[in-house]
Amino acid sequence: MLRTRITDLFGIEAPIFAFTHCRETVAAVSRAGGMGIYGASTFAPERVDADLAWITANVEGKPFGVDLMMPQKSEGKGTTTDARELEAALQMAIPQAHREFTRTLLEQFQVPGLDTAPPVEDDGRPGGRGWRHSWYEFKLGAVETGARLQLEAALRHPIAFLVTALGTPPPDVRELARSRGMKLGALVGSAKHARQHIDAGVDVIIAQGTEAAAHTGEISTLVLVPEIAKAVAPVPVLAAGGIGTGEQLAAALALGAEGAWTGSIWLACAESDEPPEVVERMLAARSSDTLRSRCRTGKPLRQLKSPWSAAWEEPSSPGMLAMPTQHILTAEAEERIQRHRRADLTTIPVGQIVGAMNSVRPAAEIVRELVADCEATIAGMGRFMPLSTKEQG
Ligand SMILES: Cc1cc2nc3c(=O)[nH]c(=O)nc-3n(C[C@H](O)[C@H](O)[C@H](O)COP(=O)(O)O)c2cc1C
Repeated sequence: MLRTRITDLFGIEAPIFAFTHCRETVAAVSRAGGMGIYGASTFAPERVDADLAWITANVEGKPFGVDLMMPQKSEGKGTTTDARELEAALQMAIPQAHREFTRTLLEQFQVPGLDTAPPVEDDGRPGGRGWRHSWYEFKLGAVETGARLQLEAALRHPIAFLVTALGTPPPDVRELARSRGMKLGALVGSAKHARQHIDAGVDVIIAQGTEAAAHTGEISTLVLVPEIAKAVAPVPVLAAGGIGTGEQLAAALALGAEGAWTGSIWLACAESDEPPEVVERMLAARSSDTLRSRCRTGKPLRQLKSPWSAAWEEPSSPGMLAMPTQHILTAEAEERIQRHRRADLTTIPVGQIVGAMNSVRPAAEIVRELVADCEATIAGMGRFMPLSTKEQG
């Protein structure tokens, strides 16, 4: 058992937090003694509600968390509180050249339309196995208007940890969370942002290095974690980005973190609901097979390299639109690529640790191994300490 201030704070056995969109993985990690964090950003509020009800029923009373995107800045922010109105306005603002480029790419890569997509495979889950990551069902998870709808659904459930990415939760959200006894966390890529979050009363800072999956800054975990741990002390810090082994967890603790916030490794666990062909691509990928590109959401996002992302980065590209308009533009294309099982074109968010993801194992086994290998690493570090003269004598 690894005991840190974070395990004490949440009453959990292992300082391992697992960000995932997959409800089975959330429940499995929490049951195994870590904490599963349900990433709500791509889901419609009804799905958030249904998934969190399922998690609550399957987590054996163990704590779990929810992660939402609450960007400080996004297009259309503050113009309307009506999500449909906002989406329509953002749709209208998409330049014709961008629509044309997306259409041409789909044609060039021979991706058929949704009308000819194979039927959804219904395994009893709301979206059916492999299709639960619909980039099409909710396009406003990256703006406050949309995130508030997801939050409303989330707050019906007993969440222990509410985490936001890309910005500090607004004061009313903070109060609501507090009044329900939740701890608040925020992901950051710089010490400056970390300080803003603690000024707003956030309980836990997640320092996410550039090697992580999804939206990242440019500073590596090795540099960022100690910088932030010092800047926000005594507020506890979780290290994120590039952690997939017990040795890396031990390194994170050595840097001043109280635990690890992980994401990529769960994409290939046995409970993962990623399409099998996408998992195969990740198992085969090397650590150099990711890039940070704005082609999915409009903000730099680390993802698996593919001809799709390469095309957006070429000189012939019209360039990327801002968040969330780039996502509104490309959501249907992402959906077509997934529904037609074109894993060769996938741009799934995944970190550099993908190079070490070589097998599919149950989430509980991954948690156990992370802890055991971390303990063994810490114990083994004693070999670098020369015996004192007294001990030698
Ligand atoms: C598929 C995927 C999607 C992600 N989407 C989000 C997100 O919506 N919000 C968020 O805070 N972090 C998101 N992340 C990042 C994770 O929270 C985490 O910081 C990151 O995966 C840690 O680095 P690692 O991938 O090296 O483990 C995502 C990660 C993955 C793998």
